[in-house]
Amino acid sequence: MYEHPDFDQHERIVHFYDKHSGLKAIIAIHSTALGPAAGGCRLWTYNNGDDALTDALRLSRGMSYKNAMAGLPFGGGKSVILGPVADDQRTDRLLAFGEAVESMAGNYITAEDVGVGVSDMDMVALRTRYVSGLSKNGVVGGDPSPFTARGVVEGIKATVKAHLGTDSLKGLRIAVQGLGHVGSYVCERLNAEGAKLLVSDIQSQRVNEIVARFEATPVALDEILDQDVDILAPCALGGIITPKKAETIKAKLVAGAANNQLSIPEAGKVLHERGILYAPDYVINAGGIIMVSSLYTGTIDLAKVEAIVDAIGPRLIAIYERAKAESTQPELVSDLMAKDIINKAKRTLKGVKPSVLFA
Ligand code: NAI
Repeated sequence: MYEHPDFDQHERIVHFYDKHSGLKAIIAIHSTALGPAAGGCRLWTYNNGDDALTDALRLSRGMSYKNAMAGLPFGGGKSVILGPVADDQRTDRLLAFGEAVESMAGNYITAEDVGVGVSDMDMVALRTRYVSGLSKNGVVGGDPSPFTARGVVEGIKATVKAHLGTDSLKGLRIAVQGLGHVGSYVCERLNAEGAKLLVSDIQSQRVNEIVARFEATPVALDEILDQDVDILAPCALGGIITPKKAETIKAKLVAGAANNQLSIPEAGKVLHERGILYAPDYVINAGGIIMVSSLYTGTIDLAKVEAIVDAIGPRLIAIYERAKAESTQPELVSDLMAKDIINKAKRTLKGVKPSVLFA
């Protein structure tokens, strides 16, 4: 574990196996310096256990940085459920997963991620209180994806302003990879802003639907990243921009919802050297966790939540300005900023006198 290339001083990594339901899951807590570790649960069919562990390690570290940069009182964690999970196994495995989360005693709070929806989290909530993203309760609630999409589009607008010097997305060509929960809402918002969409998804019915709704142009799966567009918005899975792929991307900027878009840091360097502006993924895609954590901490004021989500735009501008001033990559700047926030919190905790702690 400690030699794993993606191990980054994670505080806790726990694997779960439930004989009755067949659940195989990993919960990774990267940091609790800022508060309990919050981050979604991904249900995915991995090639093997190592791939699942790698995903959990990388995603949980990303959540630490994401929550820190969004100013949330939460640390970073993530869980993965190893698929496949047949329809008739789903309920039992989700209940067992809920028990797994409960056993973490509040150090980890779960919610939706790829492959997991609101009804699944409602099921998980039958076994644990450490869960958010549940069915709509009042004004805010339900699927976090529309909030993620809102933040992504605000982030795209900020990135366009910083890089292309324009306030409008009207007429800009945007390639969207992945038309699931977030991608479909991203398309809806971009269409409303007057952008021209080029889209791709491994599920052809999703492509057909978006093409019909927004007069989007369908693009083959292996060609979407190389389209001659203004903006590339990855909204499927991570690791898609390898150093080699970064050489062939024609977009002027890359800004999308997917977590861990860069396969390795070197890919970001190639984008930077080619003059392509990259929006750090965990900054631009924080809208969902902002909504989910607001709900968890008792805020159901929609306007308040939306204002926090919309702050993603100015936050990105600040990152781009610092990156420009320091002639470096935006994702390196945001990593530094996030680590700084986390380390300061750690120092504060260490600085607390025992007498205060036990008062
Ligand atoms: P989802 O599972 O609803 O959608 C993913 C979509 O990508 C699916 O339609 C799938 O068919 C498609 N896809 C998978 N591989 C593909 C490929 N190679 N080419 C084209 N399409 C492909 O997931 P969701 O919730 O929309 O999340 C999308 C991304 O955004 C993920 O990386 C997730 O971690 C990230 N994210 C999601 C948040 C949320 O609120 N749901 C919050 C923050 C990040």
